[in-house]
Amino acid sequence: MTAAIEARDPNTLSNYSYFLTTHTVANFDINFEKKILSGNVVLKLKRLEKTDKPDIVLLDTSYLDIEGVQVDGSPAEYELQSRIEPYGSALSIKCGSGSDKDDVELEIKVKTTHKCTAIQWLTPAQTSNKKYPYMCLFDPEPFETDSGLEADEALVSQCQAIHARSLIPCQDTPDVKSTFEFNLRSPLPVIASGLFTGSKDYRPGESGKAGTLLYTFRQDVPIPSYLFAVASGDIATASVGPRSVVATGPEELRACQWEVEADTERFIQTAERIVCPYSWTTYNILVLPPSFPYGGMENPQYTFATPTFITGDRENVDMIAHELAHSWSGNLVTNASWEHFWLNEGWTMYIQRRLEAAIHGEQYRDFSAIIGWKALTDSIREFGEEHEFTKLIVDLKGKDPDDAFSTVPYEKGFTFLYYLEKQIGREKWDQFIPHYFSTFARKSLDSYEFKSTLLSFFSKDSEVYAFLKNLDWDKWFYAPGFPPKPDFDTSLADSCYALASKWERLNAEAETDFQPSSSDIAGWGSNQVVVFLEAVQEFDEPLGKKGVHLMGEQYGLLHSGNAELTSRYFAIGLRAKDEEVYEPTVELLGKVGRMKFVRPL
Ligand code: BES
Ligand code: ZN
Repeated sequence: MTAAIEARDPNTLSNYSYFLTTHTVANFDINFEKKILSGNVVLKLKRLEKTDKPDIVLLDTSYLDIEGVQVDGSPAEYELQSRIEPYGSALSIKCGSGSDKDDVELEIKVKTTHKCTAIQWLTPAQTSNKKYPYMCLFDPEPFETDSGLEADEALVSQCQAIHARSLIPCQDTPDVKSTFEFNLRSPLPVIASGLFTGSKDYRPGESGKAGTLLYTFRQDVPIPSYLFAVASGDIATASVGPRSVVATGPEELRACQWEVEADTERFIQTAERIVCPYSWTTYNILVLPPSFPYGGMENPQYTFATPTFITGDRENVDMIAHELAHSWSGNLVTNASWEHFWLNEGWTMYIQRRLEAAIHGEQYRDFSAIIGWKALTDSIREFGEEHEFTKLIVDLKGKDPDDAFSTVPYEKGFTFLYYLEKQIGREKWDQFIPHYFSTFARKSLDSYEFKSTLLSFFSKDSEVYAFLKNLDWDKWFYAPGFPPKPDFDTSLADSCYALASKWERLNAEAETDFQPSSSDIAGWGSNQVVVFLEAVQEFDEPLGKKGVHLMGEQYGLLHSGNAELTSRYFAIGLRAKDEEVYEPTVELLGKVGRMKFVRPL
């Protein structure tokens, strides 16, 4: 028997310290009319060694209709317990007579409901977007298909952090990993977080919808529940590398392909050199409609991405570097609970910036980290320097991990790893990276295991070991507020700051011969404009209306299609109460769901 693991995740109602899911099969019909998924889920569980053998399995569910449960092929007693916010309703299942066996197989007949928090059902209005052609996944002109469905209807799931329980009954914790099979029936093409194994007609005549196919996928690398993902819609694909395609609406395909084709494979190979070989066979990108609430989501096989990164200049592909980096940090080596989320996101920012450095030069890494430090500053100020959620390890008992979400785990986590790299020395640190990832591949870990692995790796290097022994780990892990600010190489940011000070003098009506013109930013990458705009946001005396107008006009900010720029520029304009930005702000907020842009506005 496998030794029992301690239940270290407070955000699940499952009893995963007694049973562990090893394999999951999801069999679903996707019903666009009713906006539900219905079918059954098969869970193979392994019983763990415990003296008090329980015969009850507890699973997470949230707003699911449970229609029947079988244990090892026979109907079983079950009960859907009352809801406990924010975690949902535990499904308790009696294992009955077979309870001495090591393995238990559950088959649960299930339907999602309209309260499902894991799925966005997109209407034609949400998938079409004539103003921003790159922002739409589906054809702008709705047309009837054989199935009677409008071809621009779509479904997208988002399970991180604890929404998988709203799609499938499961042990919804990143501390449990399972292999998966997906058998999904839909009238429109389907994508899931497994390798595609085929599609075929599904009982023609019976399904009621012509053109409904059964799409099958398998994920042989064990993954946590939050990486369960499905999307269905009018999707076309184009190659962007030897192991990669981009998928999106047919009209936007070429633009999406151009945006990522130069960098995707380069990023993969660079990450393989820094960490270890890629484990997932293919790396693909699904570009979604603009209402997707995140920049990107690292679902295995397919990163789900916002269309706001398609800017026609390849300037936002760092998002792809980020989601790809999760193939190692997060998807292969996973935080054991959302309290240790920095292990996913901090490591991912670290790898992302190493990829940026390898491709654009070392200076670019610090340039990107400077943008990150600004984001960290904003988050810590917003929470307050003493706030629980500004700690590296947060206490989430009784809480919803989505409420703790901020850039803190990303940037404080990055700062910690960057600090360790600088103190230990790049060469030695670079040997630890593959060691860490091979030690925890296909496993989940917490911060204490990270610490002990680092210490034991350097146990024979007296200098590094002494440093690690003396390190104030408790302060890094538990102190709220700012970590020590790294000494960044500011060479790429300096010209951005210099331009911002010219504007500050102009704004203060100090004596200056500065006359803003488009040549100020000629040759700049859009991320440099981002750093400039962020510096303007920091002015002691907010930029006045006149300045806002001039800046928008000279730097083409009012009508730019790049939300990274407009969202920051509009924030400056709103602060100046410049009516000129009101309408475009409303328009941006009406189109774009990405929280990074929506929240500050
Ligand atoms: N895994 C996250 C997105 C996420 C986190 C979804 C927590 C739900 C709960 C993803 O990798 C991410 O960090 N996305 C960023 C993009 C990025 C370039 C930092 C985002 O969405 O802004
Ligand atoms: Zn991430």
